[in-house]
Amino acid sequence: MNIIFATNNAHKLSEVQAVLGDGFRLLTPRDCAITEELPETQTTLEGNARQKARYLYNHTGHDCFADDTGLEVEALGGAPGVHSARYATDGHDFAANNRLLLRNLEGKTDRRARFRTVICLILGGEEHLFEGIVEGRIIDQERGTAGFGYDPLFIPEGCDRTFAEMDAATKNALSHRGRAVRKLADYLHSIEK
Ligand code: IMP
Repeated sequence: MNIIFATNNAHKLSEVQAVLGDGFRLLTPRDCAITEELPETQTTLEGNARQKARYLYNHTGHDCFADDTGLEVEALGGAPGVHSARYATDGHDFAANNRLLLRNLEGKTDRRARFRTVICLILGGEEHLFEGIVEGRIIDQERGTAGFGYDPLFIPEGCDRTFAEMDAATKNALSHRGRAVRKLADYLHSIEK
């Protein structure tokens, strides 16, 4: 089965392909001659995942899915949330985002946070949503060099290492995105039978 995944990020693509297995061939927007940035202007993760998937479906008529992820920090009322990529600046400046997060948490004892991923699948025109969550906490200085984004500041519940101190397989087994993608994979495999 061919299905379009709303990413041109090769790393994400191979991560998701590994979970879905050989029965699914993932195509990218570029494979379908879509070279523009997919619109992402909604105020929730669900809204953005749906908007990107719907855009792809409307332009290709092909089965597809899109994801959106945010870090939700308890003491900050769920921020940066849907604004995680552009928390500190307009670009994807991970270092600046991490500095701002630490500054906003200065003096706060409640360090609880969660990563949440929402995937919107459009199959035969119908939408299906899948969610993956990992609970954890934000530490007060960066640790580790693996991964990306807020990984050096986030320790998942039950662990003593940050995501940036784990290898990719260990992170994927625990992570928000890994959990959401496994739910998507279970669903796709269940309807194949
Ligand atoms: P996206 O929706 O996957 O593009 O994620 C939006 C933003 O959330 C990214 O730019 C990162 O700042 C952050 N983010 C998403 N996934 C992760 C992760 O696995 N670790 C750390 N930060 C992440």
